[in-house]
Amino acid sequence: MQQIVLVGFMGAGKTTIGHELATILQLPLIDTDQLIEERVNQTIPEIFEQYGESYFRELEAQVLASLNDQEGIISTGGGIVLQEATRQQLKNFQHVVYLTVPFKELVTRIKNDSQNLRPLFLNHTQQDFQKVYESRASLYEAVSTIEIENTGKIVETIANEIIDRVGV
Ligand code: S3P
Repeated sequence: MQQIVLVGFMGAGKTTIGHELATILQLPLIDTDQLIEERVNQTIPEIFEQYGESYFRELEAQVLASLNDQEGIISTGGGIVLQEATRQQLKNFQHVVYLTVPFKELVTRIKNDSQNLRPLFLNHTQQDFQKVYESRASLYEAVSTIEIENTGKIVETIANEIIDRVGV
């Protein structure tokens, strides 16, 4: 069974790289944010607004737990590492790839991504958002088996680098 989980901050390219990996390896692409939205039939901004972040995190943990035996490329939401329980779950997956991108570039990407509204970006000042970014780095490091910088290279190059490194 082949299984690659992608983690990293919002805007790090988890979904984009996930699509490329899934295409090259001919594996299904599973997106935890999408599964959450389908499960409650609401968008992420709606879930945050109506029920708050903690409810979203409960759903996120449930969805991740349901994917343990799932073959494929699993793209996660940036906050998947926030709970001790989800960090433990992530350690059970075969490969966990941490995509890193410098903060300034992430902000540019997030601002340009009008398709994907991130409540945590919209509800924080840039200074506080940077603190969120800094506080999460060690959490991604703790759960990942491989770390790859996703800047300045085309998507296909990054995907092939991941394939080489995980040896699938
Ligand atoms: C979040 C990241 C988002 C989404 C939600 C919360 C986070 O996913 O799960 O808005 O806490 O980092 P992306 O990382 O795909 O933007």
